[in-house]
Amino acid sequence: MLSKKLEAALNEQINAEFWSAYLYLSMSADFAAKGQPGFANWMHIQFKEEQDHAMKLFNYIISRGGHPELKPIAEVNTQWASPLAAFEDTLAHEQEVTALINELYALATEEKDYATQSMLKWFVDEQVEEEATAQGIIDALRMIKDNGFGIYTLDKELSARVYTPIEAE
Ligand code: FEO
Repeated sequence: MLSKKLEAALNEQINAEFWSAYLYLSMSADFAAKGQPGFANWMHIQFKEEQDHAMKLFNYIISRGGHPELKPIAEVNTQWASPLAAFEDTLAHEQEVTALINELYALATEEKDYATQSMLKWFVDEQVEEEATAQGIIDALRMIKDNGFGIYTLDKELSARVYTPIEAE
């Protein structure tokens, strides 16, 4: 059985993951509207992965006899000045999520809840990948600067990203 404190913290994280999904869907919409389908595809897959993250926590709370509680999702931006601005926001957001996961892990450790620590290890590893991927795209965009052909080529590259449900990883 989860402690009430940990259950509440995990419910907050469900909200943070759904907010992340909302953020990336909004970025996807902005890229699509600006004629950059590859960037839009990348963000759309990110949106689906964030929903998976939320559902992993949702299902975990149920498996431990708790009660998932869905809270309002706060507003997100709808436009970004450039692909670089969107990916810089992505990295900054993922760094915040990493801090939230670390706080959850610290709470589970304090409470000697080993099952929750084990579940959260997946998120700890996932955040390393999330930050590294965003940083890689930022690095590419900084090299490209305003070069139209570079943006076009990166857009093509990101159009190849495919969605893999986390259960299948
Ligand atoms: Fe669910 Fe991108 O962290």
